[in-house]
Amino acid sequence: MINQVKEKFTSLFHKEPIIILSPGRVNLIGEHTDYNDGFVLPAAIDKHVIVALAANGTDQCNIYASAFDELISFPVENERPARGWINYIMGVVFYLKQKGHPVKGFDAVLDSNLPVGAGLSSSAAVEGAAGYGLSRLFNLHIERKELAKIGQMSEHNFVGVMCGIMDQFANLLGKKDQLIRLDCRDLSYTYSPFHFPEYKIVLCNSMVHHSLASSEYNVRRQQCEEGVALIKKQFPEVKNLRDVTEEVLNRFKDSMDEKIYRRCHYVINENDRLLKGCVYLENNDLNGFGKMMYKTHDGLSKDYEVSCDELDFLVSLTKDREEVAGSRMMGGGFGGCTINIVKSDQLDSFSYFIKKKYEERYSKTPEIYVTSIEDGVKVANHESMSFR
Ligand code: GLA
Repeated sequence: MINQVKEKFTSLFHKEPIIILSPGRVNLIGEHTDYNDGFVLPAAIDKHVIVALAANGTDQCNIYASAFDELISFPVENERPARGWINYIMGVVFYLKQKGHPVKGFDAVLDSNLPVGAGLSSSAAVEGAAGYGLSRLFNLHIERKELAKIGQMSEHNFVGVMCGIMDQFANLLGKKDQLIRLDCRDLSYTYSPFHFPEYKIVLCNSMVHHSLASSEYNVRRQQCEEGVALIKKQFPEVKNLRDVTEEVLNRFKDSMDEKIYRRCHYVINENDRLLKGCVYLENNDLNGFGKMMYKTHDGLSKDYEVSCDELDFLVSLTKDREEVAGSRMMGGGFGGCTINIVKSDQLDSFSYFIKKKYEERYSKTPEIYVTSIEDGVKVANHESMSFR
């Protein structure tokens, strides 16, 4: 695929590009906690957005997206969002410039083996590819954390999704075979190995993507803020749901809208589950960890209401399977993938079973991806690259 992207680039722009490999992400546990100042446990994976790019000596940015067979150009000084996929790149160019980085015109070709709308953060992967690629191209030496923030701002203001920082962070700071335990309050993080040779992380793509995903996402965020605003009245030191215990929340049970209560209840418990989950992982207890994953799914489905029938069904299929340590919906929700921890020597029977049952019910074949944990964004074939 790298070669294809390179060939397309040279045929369109007649020069040698640099090639950026920008991964999608999984998240083991800690869902919808990032924008509540909580914890997450993501990792970059072996599915990528691939971008070829080179400076063009003009003030224009010309980007060709293979998926849409479309070439879009915009001036480097552009300040307004447009429509569709180009916003992920426009936003990054805008914020790089706004922060004073001397970005100039460039040509790019964009392709991907990361399914779009599957909850694997293809959008953060495009933002990361643009930010990191331009930083390399124009020798801007921008810190990866900074690039994650630029990606997030683009998503907020050019794309319109008020996302947390998890996806951009995992895309930029991922490390081979390591999970990132990220504290979204201050962006401090540690790496912890995911070393379970007998198991694989397997994603089951429901192949559905409900159109309300981004609007409902923003609504969840507002609902959490509403809960915090109410609690703050009595506990002014509370800045975010991170600061609220279940015991404190329960004092508001009668005065709070029932829905807002459930949203807050989920988030508070999810932070707790992540901390417990990390202890299970440290003790090499994958089954203990898996139980936390099922509880997370329950919370996302019932309290937070971001699941859907297809995802609930995929998770329920795994419950009595001895080869599955844990399963849950992953990412923003309303479609996309479930994440499953499955014994390596039983992947075939697992896939066969899931596909058969899902097809019977929905007349649709779920795609199943056996993933590995990989490095964050990097220049392809450039192993010695420094990790900035
Ligand atoms: C999306 C967002 C993330 C995060 C997850 C849910 O992927 O982009 O910031 O909130 O949903 O955990």
